Amino acid sequence: MPPEDGSISGDSVERDVLAEHRRLETLFEEVLDSFHPEGEPDAARAALKELRAALETHFDQEDRLYYPAIWALRPDLKTELKGLVDAHDEFVAQLDHLEALLGRGKRGEARQATESLSSVFKSHEEAEEAVLATLDREFDTAR
Ligand SMILES: [Fe+2]
Ligand SMILES: [Fe+2]
Repeated sequence: MPPEDGSISGDSVERDVLAEHRRLETLFEEVLDSFHPEGEPDAARAALKELRAALETHFDQEDRLYYPAIWALRPDLKTELKGLVDAHDEFVAQLDHLEALLGRGKRGEARQATESLSSVFKSHEEAEEAVLATLDREFDTAR
């Protein structure tokens, strides 16, 4: 979570984003586990609901807090970060699709769609972490 005084630094953004990414990966795994053939439909819906809430909070922080703060300091990164922000809408659309599949009882298709979403999301995380690592190295050399 961001500090309460509203301050922001490259180190704290990288630490927070990486911690969130690892948590989101765990939640993706929990959703996949919940699609076990003998699993309860309610458990799958609950796991998906938790993942969605965590993803929406994460996207909101990146969209409105972290990335605008970075591109204010580093305008050269704005295009790349804006592309990552724009991708968030597609992830939300995919979550809608997943919920619709589950709502129709299509657990197998929902599992496949989750695996695919998880894989695309992992690439998204890696792209973000590569930008943040660059930022950190630059802060380090400036010290
Ligand atoms: Fe993101
Ligand atoms: Fe992220």
